[in-house]
Amino acid sequence: MRVQAAVATQSQPFLIADEQVTPAQQLAQLHKALADALRLQILRLLKNESFGVLELCRLVAIRQSALSHHLKVLAKAELVATRREGNSIFYRRAFITDDDPLADLKRAAFDAVDTLEIPREQAEQLDQLQQERSELSLSFFQKNAERFSENQGLIVEREHYDSSLMDVVEGLGLSPAACVLEIGPGEGRLLVELARRFASVTAVDNSKDMLDLSRAAIAADGLSNVEFLLGETANARETLSGAADLVVFDMVLHHIATPASTFRDVAALLKEDGLLLVIELCSHDQDWVRNSCGDLWLGFDESELDQWAAMSGLRFEQGSNLALRNGFQIQMRVFRKHAN
Ligand SMILES: C[S@@+](CC[C@H](N)C(=O)[O-])C[C@H]1O[C@@H](n2cnc3c(N)ncnc32)[C@H](O)[C@@H]1O
Repeated sequence: MRVQAAVATQSQPFLIADEQVTPAQQLAQLHKALADALRLQILRLLKNESFGVLELCRLVAIRQSALSHHLKVLAKAELVATRREGNSIFYRRAFITDDDPLADLKRAAFDAVDTLEIPREQAEQLDQLQQERSELSLSFFQKNAERFSENQGLIVEREHYDSSLMDVVEGLGLSPAACVLEIGPGEGRLLVELARRFASVTAVDNSKDMLDLSRAAIAADGLSNVEFLLGETANARETLSGAADLVVFDMVLHHIATPASTFRDVAALLKEDGLLLVIELCSHDQDWVRNSCGDLWLGFDESELDQWAAMSGLRFEQGSNLALRNGFQIQMRVFRKHAN
């Protein structure tokens, strides 16, 4: 088997040197990676979210060179994987596939790691980091609600995917009596379409200004079947657990500080057999969207969405991709909550 020797910096995950490793070496690499308390703590932190090298340095309070060594060992054992976000590299736990000969051992190791407590200082740093990410996104919409269409138009004109999106919604086979949640409805264009089709719709947005825009769109259409909730999916869980037949995120996930835990919230919000529809940018490298459009993440790989969903008990059902003229690609993916 071939592995890549890895040396992490903030912007360069691997100095690639392909090596042939025997199964015995592979097993040894796995055990070596697990034989260190700090590395186990890093794996614990990576359970739910991905972090950049500097974020991880901050969380575990060690220098970048030392962290780089630990990430190298973890990557060599294929316990962590990376994704490029513009100039930065983000680390997450590797997704374990059944064809991995060490799958059982790795799963058992992750299970054991998950029983570890996150030390108080790390938990505080974690909260603070997630809060900083959220505030970055929230402050963008606070400042830019009035210029929303203009900003969004830099990436995508809704006209280019509206009709495909409505085909997907119609094809879900939901009853008109369905209870639907849209997270981050923005100006409310999709929200109006949902409210025209379904009996009960809830709009959840953490920006008051944006929620007001969608409220105005619903009022202008003379609709009265929409509830508005200022907050995030975690807040929606407080009152709407197990209530939704459909949850929709339309170009929202890349603004959310903690996308993986958002999937878990969605699983809690859905009824058994309920559906999640995600319309999202595919991974891209156009870093300018962070400043111009307030994006926290540069899109996502399909596999990343599928695996977050799978980890939350949501099964992939269907997906399609649309290419946009400016080089961006949009993916639409539908997941279903299934009984455990
Ligand atoms: C790019 S806009 C998309 C708006 C609309 N869905 C569309 O496609 O036109 C992102 C929306 O998500 C909201 N948002 C961002 N982060 C959020 C979060 N964590 N929870 C709820 N809404 C969020 C923003 O306030 C904004 O209304």
